[in-house]
Amino acid sequence: MPRSAEIHIVAGPQELAQQAAERVIAVGTAAIAARGRFLIALSGGSTPRSLYTRLASPDCADRLDWSRVQVLFGDERAVPPTHADSNFAMADQTLFTPLRLAPAQIHRMRGEDEPEAAAAQYENTLRRFTAGGGGAWPILDLVLLGMGEDGHTASLFPNGPELHERTRWVTPSYSPQGTRTRLTLTLGVINRASVVLFLVAGANKATVVRHLLEPQTDDAVRYPAALVQPVAGQLVWYLDQAAAAKLTRSQQTCHPERTK
Ligand code: 6PG
Repeated sequence: MPRSAEIHIVAGPQELAQQAAERVIAVGTAAIAARGRFLIALSGGSTPRSLYTRLASPDCADRLDWSRVQVLFGDERAVPPTHADSNFAMADQTLFTPLRLAPAQIHRMRGEDEPEAAAAQYENTLRRFTAGGGGAWPILDLVLLGMGEDGHTASLFPNGPELHERTRWVTPSYSPQGTRTRLTLTLGVINRASVVLFLVAGANKATVVRHLLEPQTDDAVRYPAALVQPVAGQLVWYLDQAAAAKLTRSQQTCHPERTK
């Protein structure tokens, strides 16, 4: 794991949501102050539900100027936006609708379309935010990521050809379980973000977390999450105690949040 990884260990899922919400607000506020907008890519799955709910709560909603936020997605399942498996549907229910976010600020991946066409369309969407930015890659302010028990992240799965993608910004990918066909940002985009924030909870993730944060030999390369190594940005992990349980004491004792 790169030296610069910042690791926060908190008691449980609710503290995880609160700590991560504070970080999202801080990163977003800084981005708006510096560039007048906040480009955030949301992750899917179940873990971030409590984060999005927290961000939309009365305690948090007014602490970020959401009118300056452009919401992107790190990945999506190949389903319509109303489907129970849709990452957009989950974010819409927990964040967009409660915040009354304008549709023009929300840029979903079109899971209902043919995957290659949807990937190309989303890359064009990303290019709109980098016009004049030069360079071969978009620079997002924050990419939120989760992690599966197999070490996948976004929709980058072990041994997938998309792990070796060097030019495309968005590609189709194929999950070994659940909704098979996916769309995902590639590592080229993820690793150029200013901040990459992993949000991981639960004992079922503890083994892979240990391999990723305390790699033995080259086993970490087996896990796509290990390939998330920001080129110039900050890599941040927020873990609950259950997910951090197999880390050695040294990793665990340097994080005061742990006692909260
Ligand atoms: C998705 C996510 C995926 C998720 C992990 C963890 O579309 O499912 O992008 O990478 O973050 O599978 O999922 P849980 O939070 O449900 O454990």
